Parts: sequence; C-alpha cells; structure tokens
Amino acid sequence: MALQSISKEALIGSASIGVVFIIAYYAGKRKSTLSKMSISKSHSGGKDNPLLQYVVSHSLREHPALKKLRLKTMEDSWNRMMVASEQSQFMANLAQLIKAKKAIEIGVYTGYNSLSIALALPEDGQVIACDIDEKYPNIGFPFWKEAGVEHKIDLRIQPALKTLDSLLAAGEAETFDFIFIDADKVNYDGYYEKSLQLLRKGGIIAIDNVLWGGKVLNPAEDDLDTLAIDKLNKKLLRDTRINLSMLTVGDGLTLAFKL
Ligand SMILES: C[S@@+](CC[C@H](N)C(=O)[O-])C[C@H]1O[C@@H](n2cnc3c(N)ncnc32)[C@H](O)[C@@H]1O
Ligand SMILES: *[C@@H]1O[C@H](CO)[C@@H](O)[C@H](O)[C@H]1NC(C)=O
Repeated sequence: MALQSISKEALIGSASIGVVFIIAYYAGKRKSTLSKMSISKSHSGGKDNPLLQYVVSHSLREHPALKKLRLKTMEDSWNRMMVASEQSQFMANLAQLIKAKKAIEIGVYTGYNSLSIALALPEDGQVIACDIDEKYPNIGFPFWKEAGVEHKIDLRIQPALKTLDSLLAAGEAETFDFIFIDADKVNYDGYYEKSLQLLRKGGIIAIDNVLWGGKVLNPAEDDLDTLAIDKLNKKLLRDTRINLSMLTVGDGLTLAFKL
C-alpha cells in the first residue's frame, strides 16, 4: 500500500498507540526494577516471596496475643504500616540481649511492636508509646491486656517530638535502653537527635523504613519523605557518636549503638 493512501488520522492514531506502548514499557520496567531493588515485609510486599515465607514459618514464635493482634491488624486497610513480625521478633531479642528495661516506641499504629517489646521487658519494664492518633492503638489495647503487659505500656497521644522533649525535661536523659523510630519520616532527624540524648551508652536506636521501598536510590526532588530518610542515612554513616548497621529486613532497618 502506498503511503499517500493512508489517512492522516490513521497515521496519528498508530503513532499515539506507539507512544502509549513506549510509556507503558518504561513504566513497567521502572516498576519491576523498583520491586527487584526493594526489600519487603512478610505480610505485605513479601507475601508472595516463598523464601521470606520460609523465614517466617521457620523462625516466628509469636505470643498468642501478638498473633491475634497481627491477624486483627490485617483486617485494616493500612496494615502495610504494621512492623514486619520477623523484624519485631528480632528487635525484641536485641532488647533482651542488652537487658533493656526502658523503651520508647515512636509511632504505635495498632501496637504490634509495643506489645512485642513489652513482652520482652522485665515485670518493672516500661515502654513509652508515642502516637498522635488513639484510634489505632485502641485496636491493640485489648491484646496488650490479654497478654498481661498493659501496665508496662505508657501511651502518650501527642506529637512524638513533644513527648521526647517532656522526657528530657523530666531529667530522663541517658536512661533509655531501646528506642524504635517508626513515625512520620520528615521528623526522623529530630527523633534521632532527641533519642540519642535519651539513650544510655550501649543502648540501641532502631530506625525503620530506611530503604523506603527502594526510593532512596533516586529520590524525587519534591519527595520530602524519601529526602529526609536519605539525608539521615548519609548523616549516620559519618556519625562518630554511634556504631552502625543497616539491615535488609522489612523495609530496611538501621541500628545505631550509642558509644
Ligand atoms: C508505620 S506506623 C507505626 C507502626 C508500628 N510501629 C507497629 O508496630 O506496627 C506510623 C505511626 O506513626 C504515627 N504518627 C505520625 N505522625 C506522628 C507524630 N508526629 N507523632 C507521633 N506519631 C505519629 C501514625 O499515626 C502511625 O500510627
Ligand atoms: C564501634 O566504634 C568504635 C569507636 O569508633 C570502634 O573502635 C569499634 O571498632 C566499632 N565497633 C564495630 C563493631 O564497628
């Protein structure tokens, strides 16, 4: 068929289809590259990863109340916010290893990790649990009670920076053993600096989502969450106040050991 006999409309039509295919191809490629580069939680991104499921089925030893809270949380549409159970158990083991008595949870959601850490603390242990919204912690409360550790969990509903400031003002600097940072990302640096003051020497700060679904590799200019995480990651590498590990568990977990 001669070129002249193809209508202008048909030419434009096939050109647009071509463009759509090219865009779709690159979008798909970017998505699959991102998923290849990201680490995930066993209950969300890693649900269909057989090796991650093997890890969970060969190591998870949840307290019955913890398991019930996890299943209850899975009914909520925001359940991807929940800490990965394999990560939570690891942090509870770490807390026991350093004989932690006082802990802080920055970002509670339904309180899976608050419960997990409370179970790992001695009878007179204490978790200061910080969140701005009591709706989700209220889902967890009955399970804290069922496990018999609700007296160890001190829930403070207000911006976490305020709670950390009030602990410092109350003279509690250098008295905490374990702090988990898992709330809004733009305040990560503020949480880290205040936590470092509240922590005793040899205490541990655990920072969640440090790989942020792989986005730290190429943060968009206007993506304030990713920029904040990447900035803190770069700062910690050079921070001489701590020893450091970055682990590929969950969505990426950094451990800072106070010197
Ligand atoms: C990723 S979730 C925490 C998950 C939780 N650590 C767990 O064990 O499943 C983040 C939580 O941080 C809370 N949050 C957001 N901004 C906050 C702020 N400024 N102060 C305290 N909590 C905040 C949210 O309400 C949400 O419940
Ligand atoms: C922790 O930091 C101290 C001080 O910089 C250093 O001497 C020590 O080797 C570090 N430990 C590890 C395991 O990196």
